[in-house]
Amino acid sequence: MKGLILSGGAGTRLRPITHTSAKQLVPIANKPILFYGIEAMVEAGIDEIGIIISPETGGDIQTAVGDGRELGASITWLVQDQPLGLAHCVLIAREFLGDDDFVMYLGDNMLEQNLIGFVNEFTSRRASPELGSTGGRVAQILLAEVDDPRSFGVAEVAADGSVVRLVEKPENPPSNLALVGAYLFDKTIHDAVAAIEPSPRGELEITDAIQWLIDEGHEVAHDILVGWWLDTGKKDPLLECNRLVLDTIEPQLDGSIDERSEVVGRVRIDSGATIINSTIRGPVVIGANTTVTDSYIGPYSSVAADCQITNAELDHSVILANSSIANVARITDSLIGSHVDVDRSAHVPAGIRLMLGDHSRVELEG
Ligand code: DAU
Repeated sequence: MKGLILSGGAGTRLRPITHTSAKQLVPIANKPILFYGIEAMVEAGIDEIGIIISPETGGDIQTAVGDGRELGASITWLVQDQPLGLAHCVLIAREFLGDDDFVMYLGDNMLEQNLIGFVNEFTSRRASPELGSTGGRVAQILLAEVDDPRSFGVAEVAADGSVVRLVEKPENPPSNLALVGAYLFDKTIHDAVAAIEPSPRGELEITDAIQWLIDEGHEVAHDILVGWWLDTGKKDPLLECNRLVLDTIEPQLDGSIDERSEVVGRVRIDSGATIINSTIRGPVVIGANTTVTDSYIGPYSSVAADCQITNAELDHSVILANSSIANVARITDSLIGSHVDVDRSAHVPAGIRLMLGDHSRVELEG
């Protein structure tokens, strides 16, 4: 079985963080979301992985992933010139995929559950002799109950458990079962993606391709997701996901911590980081070569590599690489991009001086 990870597209919902970088590289506990997907595949025994990238952000993704060897995978890069849809990604991956079964994974999704059970069920069902060589099953999807399914693909499941209908982002959803970004296919999907037409939004939809499989009489099975799921989305779900993952990290103190500092709880401090006269109260991760001076870093914070935190307090926040925060009483529930500079100034007239990118959001203290 092969893996296909979709990491092209245009990141819009996490602006301004993804104006300049790929949304799949936004870190959770200082590790890009995409890496969790690659690791989940490798853990399920899939190490031949094709990654779809766009010309705009593909370079950054290639730099971050490298050849994949460190993650235990062998990576084939597939450039998609325009974001023409999830099914279009299958179309352009045809040569890489050959006639193999594959798991398709959306690079901006993160699942708590691993892929092992999902993949094994598909493989064993298809290999089962009493069901013939394919068992009739050509695809398997993963569904999750959500409160508002209108921004997802939505599935209608019959009383016998079979998937009967799929619709992409419907105004009137037929159920509250959203499609999660992990799919299993056999080679029949290639006939489906070749047969469908672009949707009204101009994309070749994977939901339409799966509907084609159903209409042609093939079996499309489903699993219900176990645990939490993040489809990047907005700031608060991202902070929440960061919180859940930080609760599971292994404590490790590789950086240097001076005797005036206090480190309490589940904390990981990477090598080259320096903690001076500060309190770090976990769960917290602090990236390589970051310096924290005269500060408090409180629970559920991830500070990436090469940051400077000076005379500041923060908690429940994610700070991306190369940023500097100084002289701020308390930053909470915040997502701060890379190369950001936050400081207090003594300039008169007193006031708040901002230089914010498009789509930024600032909430001042009440
Ligand atoms: O997150 C689950 C949802 O993902 C499903 O419920 C929907 O059925 C499915 O269509 C998809 O919806 P989104 O609108 O969230 O998809 P998005 O445009 O965010 O793309 C998902 C991933 O695929 C993301 O990593 C970008 C990548 N992508 C997307 C497109 C449209 C590509 O690589 N190429 C593309 O052409």
